Amino acid sequence: MAAVGLALAGQTPAIGSMTSSLQSILMNTHGSKDYEYPTDITRDILPIPVHSHNDYWRNEPFWTGLSKGCTSTEADVWLYNGTLYVGHDQSALTSSRTLESLYINPILEVLDRQNPKSPFVPAPTKNGVWDTDTTQTLYFFIDVKTSGPETFKAVIEALEPLRAKGYLTSVKDGKTLNGPVTIIGTGETPLEMITSVADRDYFFDAPLAKLKDPQYSEINGLVAPIASTDFQAVVGKVTLDTDPVLNEGQLQVLRQQIADANERGIGARYWNTPHFPIRTRNLVWRTLLREGVALLNADDLDAVAAYF
Ligand SMILES: *[C@@H]1O[C@H](CO)[C@@H](O)[C@H](O)[C@H]1NC(C)=O
Repeated sequence: MAAVGLALAGQTPAIGSMTSSLQSILMNTHGSKDYEYPTDITRDILPIPVHSHNDYWRNEPFWTGLSKGCTSTEADVWLYNGTLYVGHDQSALTSSRTLESLYINPILEVLDRQNPKSPFVPAPTKNGVWDTDTTQTLYFFIDVKTSGPETFKAVIEALEPLRAKGYLTSVKDGKTLNGPVTIIGTGETPLEMITSVADRDYFFDAPLAKLKDPQYSEINGLVAPIASTDFQAVVGKVTLDTDPVLNEGQLQVLRQQIADANERGIGARYWNTPHFPIRTRNLVWRTLLREGVALLNADDLDAVAAYF
């Protein structure tokens, strides 16, 4: 700011010339170290409570969601010969698209930049990926596609670089310690691999619509920070495009599920929400936010980022 002010002083910018003089100042300062700082990679991105659904489909998995501020991302993982590959189905897998290359390494890179060592930092930090809100965790849903026990074991091992630096949200002595990344196993992830371990740094994606079933009746936010379900399967088809977009019965189902989850310290997420017509999609997003879901599930990240 000071540099810009100084350079402008002494000139009497005529209308129209202001922009060009400002542009020339910006051009001259381009490359100046004064405009950089260690944690600036996400400098102007505001986090939004959005899950980047099937994130690995995007041109730049992880990075695209990060650039939009999505606080949740997802990878489908397949275990072959000891390596975790990322893709929606087997035909989509390649030897270079791995959990490590597409997610673990980029996340580490961002977190290392957000937690610099410098004379100004008296003690090690645990900043999250967003420069604008360093306490915001990044939920990372790992959707296990191949045999649960073997694959999730490999996932736990693959997290070691993040674990070693203290970047994972963990449970210790019955308390959750919030960290930059919160790992949530979904798909074929076996629930027992989470409930059987008291102190751990990975969680379970609980079935939101079945929280009252005996096998899930004991779980709480220490096991499952988020519970998810298929919107259309439990709420039904949305036929309106006026507000309220849900009928009374649909709203009651939604409210009950969100309330049951929240009572146990679990946040709610609905997938398979309408994506068309746009007006219906937006009204459903608005309704879900108003009713208190933890995350919106979105496929079109440009649309959801513009919506907020
Ligand atoms: C796994 O290893 C076997 C034996 O070396 C090999 O034939 C197979 O192609 C490998 N599979 C993949 C997906 O790399």
